[in-house]
Amino acid sequence: MDRIRIRGGNRLNGRIEISGAKNAALPLMIASLLSEETLTLHRVPRLADVRMLQRILQNHGVDITVAGKRPGQNGHHGETMRLNAKSIVDTTAPYELVSKMRASFWVLAPLIARCGEAKVSLPGGCAIGTRPVDLHILALEKLGAQVTIEGGYVIARAPKGLIGGNIDFAKVSVGATHAALLGAVTAHGDTIITNAAREPEIGDVADCLVKMGARIEGIGTSTLRITGVPRLTGAEHTVIPDRIETGTYAMATAMAGGDVLLAGARPDTLETVTAVLKQAGVDLRATNEGLRVMRNGAGIEPVNVETQPYPGFPTDLQAQFMALMCGAKGTSVIRETIFENRFMHVQELARLGADIHLHGDSAEVRGTGKLTGAQVMATDLRASVSLVIAGLAAEGETMLHRVYHLDRGFETLEEKLVACGAEVERVVGQ
Ligand code: EPZ
Repeated sequence: MDRIRIRGGNRLNGRIEISGAKNAALPLMIASLLSEETLTLHRVPRLADVRMLQRILQNHGVDITVAGKRPGQNGHHGETMRLNAKSIVDTTAPYELVSKMRASFWVLAPLIARCGEAKVSLPGGCAIGTRPVDLHILALEKLGAQVTIEGGYVIARAPKGLIGGNIDFAKVSVGATHAALLGAVTAHGDTIITNAAREPEIGDVADCLVKMGARIEGIGTSTLRITGVPRLTGAEHTVIPDRIETGTYAMATAMAGGDVLLAGARPDTLETVTAVLKQAGVDLRATNEGLRVMRNGAGIEPVNVETQPYPGFPTDLQAQFMALMCGAKGTSVIRETIFENRFMHVQELARLGADIHLHGDSAEVRGTGKLTGAQVMATDLRASVSLVIAGLAAEGETMLHRVYHLDRGFETLEEKLVACGAEVERVVGQ
């Protein structure tokens, strides 16, 4: 297995190109199941999760071609992917594939919408909590599907097609909102989704569905009104820049010190995060090219945060922010309200000398201002990158094991950091 070696202490200076958002690219690829025509996606990040979903979609019969790199093009601009689901050959998504990545469960809604039936294994994914699927099932039932769970599979049927309905979510869920949207756009009649998640990735998928002929109002708000259309067409769409990657490199720069332009970033999609970083003493400026992040000399101030659905502070940046707070000049409290088991990075950060105490859903982080390199283990995607951030500021060498977690969600991480002066290298496993 590959490892990543980091020698801490260098400041970061330069430019990092922000990739297309993983959490938009995955549901966009899944949206291709709704049309017989080709969906062309640009700036799809080159990630292990994208490759995995490609295999899952191909298993259903989706024909996928990936355009090669143009001369002079670096790996940071992702790739152009053409997905054609002219004929769906299999409506079952098996355990072997779905258990590796939770988002693959999201094929359920478009498969029922298109074929009237689907059988999808209960999902796996990062071990960050129990992660039930009751809200997905509720959404599909409200759209007229009959859903049963047998032998670890969700089996859904709607032989006469899905019908519009009112879906009122008791809790905000990104995945269930995607399911409701993907189910409703070709249902018979009108659907109203209330308490919908407002994450920019949902807006991106909705924008793409509109290009495919869907009728959706209220994009970006918590109430989505959909008028079902009989069929969707092909379309061409560019994946939005990854706000979690943007926030991650902003925190890395804050931790290591320096001056980095996050090129192509969309600061409007991470206003809560930039406000928190400014409170911590980081200088951030929106520019024509993206987001410029600077920290020169001054120490980091402790700031308390609580994760919340968008537009709140994202759970996907909680681990990275905790790493930053380990270097602050005092104590901060970080509360995780979305996933109950998303503190696995705490014991690994402790190996680097962090002083963190867990009290239920809150972590009390006593900034030591000084971390020391050590051997650490990646436990999930965002936890792994928090260890990279900590390692950038730690004295001496940090060796990160199990980096396949990182490859699921960060495109060319080492290259991007090295280009800004970090000493980071991949040690390829035997
Ligand atoms: C999405 O996961 C993201 N994944 C996650 O990103 C992200 O952490 C999460 O949203 C929250 O922002 C993708 O976009 C591929 P949820 P999802 O449904 O949709 C509960 C990363 O690192 N819930 O919004 O699975 C659930 O347990 C990842 O990129 C139910 O109770 O998250 C959680 O407490 C990991 N019943 C809360 O809702 C359900 O049926 C929010 O989860 C569904 C969810």
